Amino acid sequence: MLKSELKAAIRERWEKSDRVYDHVEAHGVKDPEQIQIWRSILARLGTEPLNVLDVGTGTGFLALLLAEMGHRVTGIDWSAAMLQKARAKAEESNYQVDFIQGDTESLPFSDETFDVVVARHVLWTLTDPEKTLQEWVRVIKPEGWVLADISHRKQGEEDHHYPAEIGGQLPFNKNLDPAEVGNLFRRAGMVDIQIEDISAAGSHHGANYLISGHKPGMF
Ligand SMILES: C[S@@+](CC[C@H](N)C(=O)[O-])C[C@H]1O[C@@H](n2cnc3c(N)ncnc32)[C@H](O)[C@@H]1O
Repeated sequence: MLKSELKAAIRERWEKSDRVYDHVEAHGVKDPEQIQIWRSILARLGTEPLNVLDVGTGTGFLALLLAEMGHRVTGIDWSAAMLQKARAKAEESNYQVDFIQGDTESLPFSDETFDVVVARHVLWTLTDPEKTLQEWVRVIKPEGWVLADISHRKQGEEDHHYPAEIGGQLPFNKNLDPAEVGNLFRRAGMVDIQIEDISAAGSHHGANYLISGHKPGMF
């Protein structure tokens, strides 16, 4: 499959996921423990309002938590249907979030636009993680952060979204060693790489890891 066909096939699947996405237990969107885990991760950004980009925002899980915390948030996703759902949720909660349709692997933003890039449940579905990390680092300011997670799904759940002909072409659509993702961050120029186990207690869906890093400062 050509890269453009692969991307079109993935995008097409997400265009049909908007109605069910928030109700699938493994996505954790309505799970109080997941919400608490991510609230405490995002609290590390501090209370001063930052410019934050949520890549692959989907129905806006992180974007809405960040808006609730007072940050200036942009959410990007290529699925119009997922974005429509995210916009409806923002409106309902009265949060101001700029939801933009676009490709997270090739961002429509100038260099050094954001303080932070966040990505939840996104690394696994990238067609080109190497290039994408470079993009995320490009759009953050010096000393900005990237925070992204990976999941270790249980055996048999690995390709729960995609058939093998799609999943098999995605470099990260498998149970990755988090250290491998840390090395990807390093190759993209990030420093202070941290890898943390952020699994929910008693999770039935396998382990979750957070990988974070900083873009080096100017001096
Ligand atoms: C598993 S969902 C995660 C949604 C959200 N971040 C969350 O935590 O619930 C993955 C999302 O990434 C989006 N996505 C995947 N690849 C993308 C790309 N190249 N450009 C833009 N969005 C992408 C999909 O449309 C989908 O909404």
